[in-house]
Amino acid sequence: MRIIRYILFELWKIRAKRKLKTLLKEEDPSIRGLAVVLRETIKRKLDIEEKLWVKNIEQLRHKLKHNHTEVIVTDFGAGTPKSTRTEQEMLVGMVSSSTISKTNKGSKSPFWSLFLHKLIREFKPKTAIELGTCLGISASYQAAALTINGSGKLITMEGSVELVEISKENFTNIGLINIEIVSGRFSDNLLKVLEDNKPIDYIFIDGHHDEKATVEYFEAILPYLSDKAIVVFDDISWSKGMKKAWKTIINSSEIDLVLDLKALGVCLIDKNIKGKKIYKIR
Ligand SMILES: C[S@@+](CC[C@H](N)C(=O)[O-])C[C@H]1O[C@@H](n2cnc3c(N)ncnc32)[C@H](O)[C@@H]1O
Repeated sequence: MRIIRYILFELWKIRAKRKLKTLLKEEDPSIRGLAVVLRETIKRKLDIEEKLWVKNIEQLRHKLKHNHTEVIVTDFGAGTPKSTRTEQEMLVGMVSSSTISKTNKGSKSPFWSLFLHKLIREFKPKTAIELGTCLGISASYQAAALTINGSGKLITMEGSVELVEISKENFTNIGLINIEIVSGRFSDNLLKVLEDNKPIDYIFIDGHHDEKATVEYFEAILPYLSDKAIVVFDDISWSKGMKKAWKTIINSSEIDLVLDLKALGVCLIDKNIKGKKIYKIR
């Protein structure tokens, strides 16, 4: 299974490199910006500061991978792609016992974490929000990018109390001071986070993974976005529900540019972009 996944990903990268040639020739700076982000991620092009942060965060990932301490996780999300959790079950949360090592498997891979890092390096948002902290790996990549940029703050949200505590410790240990972690269900905290931090330049949604909830979060954040904002959705092909949610989102008239990368989708709000554009690398 792992080898098949590896081959499919390598084939995807070949398709991406081909598409990059077209994207890099586009007139619009935002489209070219996205293409640069993807090109640098595929080539793993890192400057000295980026190299240092990536090394530290990957060391943290390695430690988490080998940490078999038990952890009690309360999951307010959809579970697995085939789960049929009801709204009520997701609201109450599913409590289970796991280990840090197993929980770490939910962290974004080094490739996609670097993609998020590069996105922040390129577009330089000042206010960034993440839905779904888990153990803090993607949050660390994004906050490290803000640190290198020299400004900006990441607010990351997590429903599972034990994961919040572990993430706080992880952020302190690797020396990130520009992250605020908000503990609790997204539905309870999102509006306050948006209100307190508006206008929002960047949001990464990597939690819940339920069609209705994802569309609701998208609709909730729209009025709080700045004139030029980025909204990233993870796992857009993860389940039937997430595929439908993604379709609804990209059809929204509020979105000016879409980059569908199969695993993850990037939406840009930028009224300078002439005519809505949708690019797909599948
Ligand atoms: C896939 S993991 C996030 C991984 C993380 N972004 C990374 O790459 O390092 C999703 C996280 O979202 C949290 N989550 C899911 N649904 C939630 C909800 N409705 N409210 C709060 N947290 C939620 C889960 O507890 C889980 O830790």
